Amino acid sequence: MKDQLEQIRQSAKEALLLCEDPKALEELRIRYLGKKGELTAILKQMGKLSAEERPVIGQLANQVREEIENDISAAAEKIHQHLLEKKLASETIDVTLPGTPAPTGKEHPLNIVLNEVEDIFLGMGFSIAEGPEVETDYYNFEALNLPKDHPARDTQDTFYITENVLLRTQTSPVQVRVMEKQQPPIRIIAPGRVYRSDAVDATHSPLFHQIEGLVVDKGITMADLKGTLEIFIKRLYGEDSVVRFRPHHFPFTEPSAEMDIQCFNCHGEGCPMCKNEGWIEILGCGMVHPKVLSNCNIDPEEYSGFAFGIGLERIVMRRFAINDLRLLYENDLRFLDQF
Ligand code: DAH
Repeated sequence: MKDQLEQIRQSAKEALLLCEDPKALEELRIRYLGKKGELTAILKQMGKLSAEERPVIGQLANQVREEIENDISAAAEKIHQHLLEKKLASETIDVTLPGTPAPTGKEHPLNIVLNEVEDIFLGMGFSIAEGPEVETDYYNFEALNLPKDHPARDTQDTFYITENVLLRTQTSPVQVRVMEKQQPPIRIIAPGRVYRSDAVDATHSPLFHQIEGLVVDKGITMADLKGTLEIFIKRLYGEDSVVRFRPHHFPFTEPSAEMDIQCFNCHGEGCPMCKNEGWIEILGCGMVHPKVLSNCNIDPEEYSGFAFGIGLERIVMRRFAINDLRLLYENDLRFLDQF
Protein backbone atom coordinates (compact mmCIF):
# COMPACT_ATOMS: atom_id res chain seq x y z
CA MET A 1 0.00 0.00 0.00
CA LYS A 2 2.85 2.24 0.79
CA ASP A 3 4.29 1.59 -2.68
CA GLN A 4 0.94 2.35 -4.22
CA LEU A 5 0.78 5.66 -2.41
CA GLU A 6 4.32 6.52 -3.50
CA GLN A 7 3.42 5.67 -7.04
CA ILE A 8 0.33 7.91 -6.93
CA ARG A 9 2.42 10.70 -5.48
CA GLN A 10 4.95 10.33 -8.27
CA SER A 11 2.55 10.03 -11.19
CA ALA A 12 0.38 12.92 -9.91
CA LYS A 13 3.43 15.16 -9.63
CA GLU A 14 4.55 14.41 -13.18
CA ALA A 15 1.08 14.76 -14.65
CA LEU A 16 0.49 18.08 -12.87
CA LEU A 17 3.83 19.48 -13.99
CA LEU A 18 2.93 18.83 -17.60
CA CYS A 19 -0.66 20.01 -17.32
CA GLU A 20 -1.35 23.15 -19.39
CA ASP A 21 -5.04 23.87 -19.50
CA PRO A 22 -7.81 24.27 -16.93
CA LYS A 23 -9.93 21.42 -18.29
CA ALA A 24 -7.10 18.86 -18.09
CA LEU A 25 -6.32 20.09 -14.58
CA GLU A 26 -9.86 19.43 -13.44
CA GLU A 27 -9.70 15.94 -14.91
CA LEU A 28 -6.49 15.26 -12.97
CA ARG A 29 -8.07 16.49 -9.75
CA ILE A 30 -10.95 14.09 -10.20
CA ARG A 31 -8.63 11.28 -11.14
CA TYR A 32 -6.50 11.60 -7.98
CA LEU A 33 -8.66 13.23 -5.34
CA GLY A 34 -12.23 12.65 -6.56
CA LYS A 35 -14.72 10.34 -4.79
CA LYS A 36 -13.86 7.61 -7.25
CA GLY A 37 -10.26 8.72 -7.46
CA GLU A 38 -7.10 6.71 -6.99
CA LEU A 39 -6.28 8.07 -3.54
CA THR A 40 -9.80 7.53 -2.28
CA ALA A 41 -9.69 3.96 -3.55
CA ILE A 42 -6.65 3.30 -1.40
CA LEU A 43 -8.07 4.98 1.68
CA LYS A 44 -11.10 2.72 1.35
CA GLN A 45 -8.87 -0.27 1.89
CA MET A 46 -7.43 1.08 5.16
CA GLY A 47 -9.77 -1.20 7.11
CA LYS A 48 -7.80 -4.22 6.00
CA LEU A 49 -4.61 -2.94 7.67
CA SER A 50 -3.27 -3.93 11.05
CA ALA A 51 -3.51 -1.55 14.00
CA GLU A 52 0.20 -0.72 13.80
CA GLU A 53 0.23 -0.14 10.06
CA ARG A 54 -2.92 1.98 9.97
CA PRO A 55 -1.54 5.24 11.48
CA VAL A 56 1.63 5.03 9.39
CA ILE A 57 -0.24 4.54 6.12
CA GLY A 58 -2.89 7.08 7.20
CA GLN A 59 -0.22 9.69 7.80
CA LEU A 60 1.42 8.95 4.48
CA ALA A 61 -1.91 9.09 2.69
CA ASN A 62 -2.62 12.53 4.23
CA GLN A 63 0.81 13.73 3.16
CA VAL A 64 0.23 12.55 -0.39
CA ARG A 65 -3.19 14.21 -0.46
CA GLU A 66 -1.75 17.50 0.80
CA GLU A 67 1.06 17.36 -1.70
CA ILE A 68 -1.31 16.70 -4.59
CA GLU A 69 -3.54 19.55 -3.43
CA ASN A 70 -0.56 21.89 -3.33
CA ASP A 71 0.60 20.75 -6.75
CA ILE A 72 -2.89 21.34 -8.12
CA SER A 73 -2.92 24.89 -6.74
CA ALA A 74 0.53 25.52 -8.17
CA ALA A 75 -0.52 24.14 -11.55
CA ALA A 76 -3.70 26.27 -11.49
CA GLU A 77 -1.67 29.37 -10.75
CA LYS A 78 0.81 28.52 -13.51
CA ILE A 79 -2.01 27.97 -16.05
CA HIS A 80 -3.71 31.20 -15.03
CA GLN A 81 -0.47 33.17 -15.45
CA HIS A 82 0.20 31.53 -18.77
CA LEU A 83 -3.27 32.34 -20.14
CA LEU A 84 -2.95 35.91 -18.94
CA GLU A 85 0.38 36.36 -20.65
CA LYS A 86 -1.01 34.90 -23.85
CA LYS A 87 -3.98 37.28 -23.68
CA LEU A 88 -1.80 40.30 -23.01
CA ALA A 89 0.50 39.40 -25.86
CA SER A 90 -2.37 39.07 -28.31
CA GLU A 91 -3.92 42.35 -27.18
CA THR A 92 -0.77 44.43 -27.27
CA ILE A 93 -1.25 48.00 -28.50
CA ASP A 94 1.67 49.75 -30.11
CA VAL A 95 1.15 53.26 -28.81
CA THR A 96 3.81 54.58 -31.18
CA LEU A 97 1.72 53.72 -34.26
CA PRO A 98 -0.07 56.69 -35.83
CA GLY A 99 -3.80 56.81 -34.95
CA THR A 100 -6.65 56.36 -37.41
CA PRO A 101 -7.47 59.89 -38.48
CA ALA A 102 -11.12 60.86 -37.86
CA PRO A 103 -12.39 62.88 -40.83
CA THR A 104 -13.30 66.39 -39.71
CA GLY A 105 -15.56 68.83 -41.52
CA LYS A 106 -14.37 72.13 -42.92
CA GLU A 107 -15.91 75.50 -43.28
CA HIS A 108 -17.52 76.01 -46.67
CA PRO A 109 -16.02 78.92 -48.68
CA LEU A 110 -19.42 80.66 -48.57
CA ASN A 111 -19.33 80.52 -44.77
CA ILE A 112 -15.69 81.58 -44.55
CA VAL A 113 -16.46 84.82 -46.38
CA LEU A 114 -19.87 85.31 -44.75
CA ASN A 115 -18.22 85.12 -41.30
CA GLU A 116 -15.69 87.73 -42.35
CA VAL A 117 -18.41 90.03 -43.70
CA GLU A 118 -20.37 89.63 -40.47
CA ASP A 119 -17.27 90.44 -38.39
CA ILE A 120 -16.59 93.58 -40.42
CA PHE A 121 -20.15 94.90 -39.99
CA LEU A 122 -20.41 93.85 -36.35
CA GLY A 123 -17.22 95.85 -35.83
CA MET A 124 -18.99 98.90 -37.29
CA GLY A 125 -21.88 98.56 -34.83
CA PHE A 126 -24.33 96.60 -37.01
CA SER A 127 -26.32 93.67 -35.68
CA ILE A 128 -27.53 90.61 -37.59
CA ALA A 129 -31.18 90.16 -38.53
CA GLU A 130 -32.98 87.20 -40.13
CA GLY A 131 -36.16 86.72 -42.06
CA PRO A 132 -38.12 83.84 -43.61
CA GLU A 133 -37.18 82.31 -46.96
CA VAL A 134 -40.85 81.64 -47.70
CA GLU A 135 -42.22 85.16 -47.95
CA THR A 136 -45.40 86.92 -48.83
CA ASP A 137 -45.83 89.08 -51.89
CA TYR A 138 -46.28 92.05 -49.55
CA TYR A 139 -42.83 91.86 -47.93
CA ASN A 140 -40.92 90.73 -51.01
CA PHE A 141 -42.46 93.23 -53.43
CA GLU A 142 -45.35 95.45 -52.33
CA ALA A 143 -43.81 97.08 -49.24
CA LEU A 144 -40.56 97.58 -51.16
CA ASN A 145 -42.29 99.74 -53.73
CA LEU A 146 -42.20 97.20 -56.55
CA PRO A 147 -45.29 97.90 -58.63
CA LYS A 148 -47.65 95.09 -59.62
CA ASP A 149 -46.38 95.05 -63.19
CA HIS A 150 -42.70 94.99 -62.25
CA PRO A 151 -40.84 92.39 -64.35
CA ALA A 152 -39.25 90.80 -61.25
CA ARG A 153 -42.74 89.69 -60.20
CA ASP A 154 -43.09 87.59 -63.31
CA THR A 155 -43.48 83.86 -62.70
CA GLN A 156 -40.52 83.43 -65.00
CA ASP A 157 -38.29 85.01 -62.36
CA THR A 158 -40.01 84.13 -59.11
CA PHE A 159 -40.95 80.78 -57.57
CA TYR A 160 -44.56 81.15 -56.43
CA ILE A 161 -46.11 78.82 -53.86
CA THR A 162 -49.51 80.44 -54.05
CA GLU A 163 -50.54 83.74 -55.62
CA ASN A 164 -49.43 85.56 -52.48
CA VAL A 165 -46.71 83.31 -51.09
CA LEU A 166 -43.33 82.86 -52.74
CA LEU A 167 -39.67 82.03 -52.19
CA ARG A 168 -38.03 85.37 -51.50
CA THR A 169 -36.10 86.69 -54.50
CA GLN A 170 -33.98 89.04 -52.38
CA THR A 171 -33.08 89.67 -48.74
CA SER A 172 -34.64 93.15 -48.93
CA PRO A 173 -37.92 92.01 -47.28
CA VAL A 174 -35.95 91.69 -44.02
CA GLN A 175 -35.57 95.52 -44.12
CA VAL A 176 -39.33 95.87 -43.95
CA ARG A 177 -39.68 93.28 -41.19
CA VAL A 178 -37.03 95.02 -39.08
CA MET A 179 -38.44 98.54 -39.61
CA GLU A 180 -41.96 97.36 -38.72
CA LYS A 181 -40.71 96.16 -35.34
CA GLN A 182 -38.05 98.71 -34.49
CA GLN A 183 -37.88 102.48 -34.58
CA PRO A 184 -34.57 104.11 -35.63
CA PRO A 185 -31.67 104.12 -35.02
CA ILE A 186 -31.41 100.90 -37.06
CA ARG A 187 -28.15 99.32 -38.22
CA ILE A 188 -28.51 95.73 -39.43
CA ILE A 189 -27.24 93.26 -41.96
CA ALA A 190 -29.43 90.33 -43.00
CA PRO A 191 -27.63 87.42 -44.70
CA GLY A 192 -29.56 84.53 -46.21
CA ARG A 193 -30.70 82.38 -49.10
CA VAL A 194 -32.69 83.79 -51.97
CA TYR A 195 -34.35 82.07 -54.94
CA ARG A 196 -34.89 82.91 -58.57
CA SER A 197 -36.21 80.90 -61.41
CA ASP A 198 -32.90 80.78 -63.28
CA ALA A 199 -31.32 77.93 -65.21
CA VAL A 200 -28.03 76.69 -63.76
CA ASP A 201 -24.84 77.81 -65.48
CA ALA A 202 -21.37 79.09 -64.51
CA THR A 203 -22.80 82.35 -63.14
CA HIS A 204 -26.46 81.51 -62.33
CA SER A 205 -28.19 79.33 -59.79
CA PRO A 206 -31.84 79.17 -58.70
CA LEU A 207 -30.58 79.39 -55.11
CA PHE A 208 -27.96 81.88 -54.03
CA HIS A 209 -27.14 84.14 -51.10
CA GLN A 210 -27.39 87.83 -50.42
CA ILE A 211 -26.37 90.03 -47.54
CA GLU A 212 -28.78 92.91 -47.04
CA GLY A 213 -27.76 96.02 -45.16
CA LEU A 214 -29.89 98.79 -43.68
CA VAL A 215 -29.10 101.93 -41.72
CA VAL A 216 -31.85 104.35 -40.66
CA ASP A 217 -31.37 107.34 -38.38
CA LYS A 218 -31.63 111.12 -38.32
CA GLY A 219 -29.38 112.85 -40.83
CA ILE A 220 -28.11 109.79 -42.73
CA THR A 221 -26.77 110.81 -46.16
CA MET A 222 -25.22 109.32 -49.27
CA ALA A 223 -21.82 110.13 -47.71
CA ASP A 224 -22.54 107.60 -44.92
CA LEU A 225 -23.43 105.01 -47.55
CA LYS A 226 -20.24 105.58 -49.54
CA GLY A 227 -18.00 105.70 -46.48
CA THR A 228 -19.46 102.55 -44.92
CA LEU A 229 -19.27 100.49 -48.12
CA GLU A 230 -15.80 101.68 -48.99
CA ILE A 231 -14.50 100.70 -45.55
CA PHE A 232 -16.26 97.35 -45.90
CA ILE A 233 -14.54 96.60 -49.23
CA LYS A 234 -11.12 97.68 -47.92
CA ARG A 235 -11.47 95.43 -44.89
CA LEU A 236 -12.57 92.53 -47.08
CA TYR A 237 -10.20 92.87 -50.04
CA GLY A 238 -7.35 95.01 -48.68
CA GLU A 239 -6.61 98.70 -48.15
CA ASP A 240 -5.56 99.25 -51.75
CA SER A 241 -8.97 98.28 -53.17
CA VAL A 242 -10.58 100.93 -55.37
CA VAL A 243 -14.36 101.26 -55.69
CA ARG A 244 -16.71 103.38 -57.79
CA PHE A 245 -20.44 104.11 -57.59
CA ARG A 246 -22.57 104.10 -60.73
CA PRO A 247 -26.12 105.49 -60.89
CA HIS A 248 -28.68 102.72 -61.14
CA HIS A 249 -32.34 102.06 -60.44
CA PHE A 250 -33.97 100.08 -57.63
CA PRO A 251 -37.62 100.67 -56.72
CA PHE A 252 -36.87 100.71 -52.98
CA THR A 253 -34.06 103.28 -53.06
CA GLU A 254 -33.81 106.83 -54.41
CA PRO A 255 -31.19 107.67 -55.54
CA SER A 256 -29.82 104.21 -56.30
CA ALA A 257 -26.37 103.04 -57.31
CA GLU A 258 -24.30 100.01 -58.04
CA MET A 259 -20.87 99.71 -56.53
CA ASP A 260 -18.03 98.28 -58.63
CA ILE A 261 -14.61 97.25 -57.49
CA GLN A 262 -11.59 97.88 -59.70
CA CYS A 263 -10.25 94.67 -61.20
CA PHE A 264 -7.32 93.42 -59.08
CA ASN A 265 -5.74 91.89 -62.12
CA CYS A 266 -5.55 94.83 -64.56
CA HIS A 267 -6.28 97.81 -62.25
CA GLY A 268 -8.97 99.17 -64.53
CA GLU A 269 -7.23 98.57 -67.85
CA GLY A 270 -9.47 95.68 -68.91
CA CYS A 271 -8.53 92.01 -69.03
CA PRO A 272 -10.21 88.61 -69.46
CA MET A 273 -10.84 88.40 -65.69
CA CYS A 274 -13.12 91.47 -65.74
CA LYS A 275 -14.43 90.81 -69.25
CA ASN A 276 -12.41 93.80 -70.44
CA GLU A 277 -14.38 96.23 -68.33
CA GLY A 278 -11.74 97.03 -65.73
CA TRP A 279 -14.44 96.97 -63.03
CA ILE A 280 -16.51 94.28 -61.39
CA GLU A 281 -19.98 94.88 -60.01
CA ILE A 282 -20.20 93.92 -56.33
CA LEU A 283 -23.45 95.26 -54.89
CA GLY A 284 -26.56 97.41 -55.27
CA CYS A 285 -27.31 100.25 -52.89
CA GLY A 286 -29.11 103.54 -52.40
CA MET A 287 -30.96 105.86 -50.05
CA VAL A 288 -34.07 104.15 -48.68
CA HIS A 289 -37.11 105.36 -50.66
CA PRO A 290 -39.42 107.61 -48.58
CA LYS A 291 -42.34 105.37 -49.58
CA VAL A 292 -40.62 102.33 -48.06
CA LEU A 293 -40.03 104.25 -44.82
CA SER A 294 -43.69 105.32 -44.62
CA ASN A 295 -44.84 101.77 -45.46
CA CYS A 296 -43.09 100.79 -42.22
CA ASN A 297 -44.43 103.70 -40.17
CA ILE A 298 -41.15 105.58 -40.09
CA ASP A 299 -41.51 109.30 -40.83
CA PRO A 300 -39.38 110.16 -43.91
CA GLU A 301 -39.42 113.83 -42.88
CA GLU A 302 -37.61 112.95 -39.69
CA TYR A 303 -35.49 109.99 -40.70
CA SER A 304 -33.43 108.91 -43.66
CA GLY A 305 -31.41 105.79 -44.37
CA PHE A 306 -29.32 103.82 -46.80
CA ALA A 307 -29.51 100.20 -47.85
CA PHE A 308 -27.44 97.77 -49.84
CA GLY A 309 -27.58 94.22 -51.12
CA ILE A 310 -24.43 92.16 -51.65
CA GLY A 311 -24.30 88.94 -53.67
CA LEU A 312 -22.33 86.55 -51.45
CA GLU A 313 -21.38 84.14 -54.25
CA ARG A 314 -19.90 86.96 -56.27
CA ILE A 315 -17.56 88.14 -53.51
CA VAL A 316 -16.60 84.54 -52.65
CA MET A 317 -15.72 83.83 -56.28
CA ARG A 318 -13.64 87.03 -56.47
CA ARG A 319 -11.92 86.19 -53.24
CA PHE A 320 -10.82 82.66 -54.15
CA ALA A 321 -10.63 83.12 -57.93
CA ILE A 322 -13.39 80.55 -58.52
CA ASN A 323 -14.63 80.67 -62.09
CA ASP A 324 -17.72 78.48 -61.88
CA LEU A 325 -20.56 79.09 -59.42
CA ARG A 326 -21.63 75.44 -59.57
CA LEU A 327 -18.51 74.37 -57.68
CA LEU A 328 -19.96 76.00 -54.56
CA TYR A 329 -22.99 73.69 -54.53
CA GLU A 330 -21.72 70.36 -55.80
CA ASN A 331 -20.26 69.18 -52.48
CA ASP A 332 -17.21 67.77 -54.20
CA LEU A 333 -14.61 67.22 -51.48
CA ARG A 334 -11.75 67.61 -53.94
CA PHE A 335 -12.89 71.21 -54.32
CA LEU A 336 -13.98 71.90 -50.73
CA ASP A 337 -10.82 70.44 -49.18
CA GLN A 338 -8.80 73.30 -50.66
CA PHE A 339 -10.15 75.94 -48.29
N1 DAH B 1 -32.42 93.50 -53.64
C1 DAH B 1 -31.52 93.89 -54.69
C2 DAH B 1 -31.35 92.71 -55.65
O1 DAH B 1 -31.72 91.63 -55.33
C3 DAH B 1 -30.18 94.26 -54.13
C4 DAH B 1 -30.25 95.57 -53.46
C5 DAH B 1 -30.05 96.73 -54.18
C6 DAH B 1 -30.57 95.65 -52.12
C7 DAH B 1 -30.13 97.94 -53.57
C8 DAH B 1 -30.65 96.89 -51.51
C9 DAH B 1 -30.44 98.03 -52.26
O2 DAH B 1 -30.95 97.04 -50.22
O3 DAH B 1 -30.50 99.24 -51.63
O4 DAH B 1 -30.88 92.91 -56.73
